[in-house]
Amino acid sequence: LVISPFIANLPKVELHVHIEGTLTPSLRWELALRNKITLPYGSFDELKASYAVTLNHRPELNGRQPGIPTFLEAYFAGCDVLRTENDFYDLAMAYLSRCATMNVRYAEPFFDIQAHTRRGVPATAVLDGYLRAQRDAAAQFNVKSQWIMCFLRDEPVKDGLAAYHEARPWAAGAVKGGKGLFHAVGLASNAYERPPMLFEEGFNLARADGLHITMHCDFGQKDTHAHMNEAIFQVCEGKGSERIDHGLDAEDREELWRGLVERQIGLTLCPHAYHRRTPTEVLFPKIRRLLEKGVKVCINSDDPTLMHDVWIEGNMQKVFTHCGFNKAEMVKLARNAVDMCWASDDEKVSIY
Ligand code: HPA
Ligand code: ZN
Repeated sequence: LVISPFIANLPKVELHVHIEGTLTPSLRWELALRNKITLPYGSFDELKASYAVTLNHRPELNGRQPGIPTFLEAYFAGCDVLRTENDFYDLAMAYLSRCATMNVRYAEPFFDIQAHTRRGVPATAVLDGYLRAQRDAAAQFNVKSQWIMCFLRDEPVKDGLAAYHEARPWAAGAVKGGKGLFHAVGLASNAYERPPMLFEEGFNLARADGLHITMHCDFGQKDTHAHMNEAIFQVCEGKGSERIDHGLDAEDREELWRGLVERQIGLTLCPHAYHRRTPTEVLFPKIRRLLEKGVKVCINSDDPTLMHDVWIEGNMQKVFTHCGFNKAEMVKLARNAVDMCWASDDEKVSIY
């Protein structure tokens, strides 16, 4: 995948990246040594090779292959080396410094606090590590970030609510004395039989705190149209989510794409994530049709190190190549991310 100078130089905003999905094999190896953790790989090369395996999102449909983890199993297994505040800081600084090299000027990364607290890592280590990186990256690389705390939807709702209460002093919005790390909540992990409305109480709590709301509606999942219906029309006391992460399935249901257009809900698409399991001639015309219907979308990376090291620029390159967009249309896509982001108007001027 060759990145053209035009794509490399485009000023970018990234709105769909899981910070834990940016952990490189080399940082994972380094943190394992630092924390005296034995990884189930005999060498760094073996660890690296494990990332090349294409992992299935839907084992319930396609069966499991012995020894090959699902995508989310690999993602959460990677988290195990993250133990101390410094580990979370190093992870976030690695991503944010890479942003500077990709001309990503502003990002809204997701973090899964429950992926760490359920392993016994103190919430303060996670939150203070990311907070320090947020401040240092802004100062050192001029890469600004506002973060999104995700509920793990396949864990009990009450655990998500407890995580929110624990993280709340690190929130922005209207939280008194909040430290300003995260300004939104999201919904991630396995969507299988876990519709958005289960988390209505959490979204309403966050909204009352002045935070923004987004949620994953992963492409091609079971009940995906029903989940999108909840995300567009039902959550937040019927007001709907402010953005939807993925949401590509709306293209084939008129009431859904019309709902997105009418309510001005943008989609954060991650084309390479879908391209891993969707033919080129199916996927890219679908993205094009969504735009032609007037749905606002932006282009993002999701979990780049677990997705063949394809970062936001690789995702943009794929759309440039396979959707047949001209440069002006690519600039429009980059601008969409600025429109869809939750930076203040003053911040937007300094970003773009
Ligand atoms: N889907 C759902 N949740 C996630 C993903 C994903 O691809 N990556 C990290 N959290
Ligand atoms: Zn995602």
